[in-house]
Amino acid sequence: MESTKYSVVTKNLGKVYKNLLKDDTVALTDINLEIENGEFVSIIGPSGCGKSTLLKIIGGLEKPTSGEIIYSDPENKLGFVFQDSVLLPWKNVRENAEFPLVIQKKRSPENEKRLDELLELAGLTEFSTALPRELSGGMKQRVSIVRALSYDAPLLLMDEPFGALDALTRDHLNLQLLKIWSKTGKTILFVTHSIEEATFLSDRVLVMATRPGRIREIVTIDLPRPRNEDTRNNPRFAELNKYLRELIG
Ligand SMILES: Nc1ncnc2c1ncn2[C@@H]1O[C@H](COP(=O)(O)OP(=O)(O)OP(=O)(O)O)[C@@H](O)[C@H]1O
Ligand SMILES: [Mg+2]
Repeated sequence: MESTKYSVVTKNLGKVYKNLLKDDTVALTDINLEIENGEFVSIIGPSGCGKSTLLKIIGGLEKPTSGEIIYSDPENKLGFVFQDSVLLPWKNVRENAEFPLVIQKKRSPENEKRLDELLELAGLTEFSTALPRELSGGMKQRVSIVRALSYDAPLLLMDEPFGALDALTRDHLNLQLLKIWSKTGKTILFVTHSIEEATFLSDRVLVMATRPGRIREIVTIDLPRPRNEDTRNNPRFAELNKYLRELIG
């Protein structure tokens, strides 16, 4: 048996997309990663370097063409939050957040209670009965985060969840996400285009390079927690951002 110390380990993971009319695309090569339980890890890198592909493979939505992934708890499902969350327009906030529980037939008093706690943490309690069309973009993203956490998945995969939002909303949601993360003890793998966002949120930042998609460096973010508005004024915050920006080039 693998040790349960890590939530996810990837070994020499690779992905090649076959193309009919042009050369194959080597989307990922030699991805070796160890993501510890409860860690917040962000992935940054140029467009097309394989960030979404890596997330999809870890999430089981794509198959790798080489290498393997070892989950410490393979029975447990994971949650996915995409850039444009799709909510069911005819269901209200609570019903949308509850949807995975309904589908998986996991509605129970405990799960319903946890759902209500998550809605509260995400500041959505008073909008429980609102329909998606009545929500702002940031609120919709919060619903999709609660939905992804509703069935107590130990691992949350987030692909640019706040990419479409304005900077202020994004900063606010970052704080809220950290609050949910620290209260629930989830492991989070978070793709972003924003270096500052990655630095602010993460324990480690995975910097990827392109052609072929690969890991350039994994940078430890040694900023104190809990993170808050003061974090952005910490000289170390600027230093880390500068370092990451130079790495991406
Ligand atoms: N289904 C697919 N079929 C063929 N090629 C694909 C497919 N999905 C992704 N690719 C290719 O794999 C490479 C990596 O794509 P991926 O979407 O993982 O990049 P990304 O880092 O998420 O980029 P972005 O920052 O723009 O979202 C790209 O060259 C892309 O064209
Ligand atoms: Mg992508």
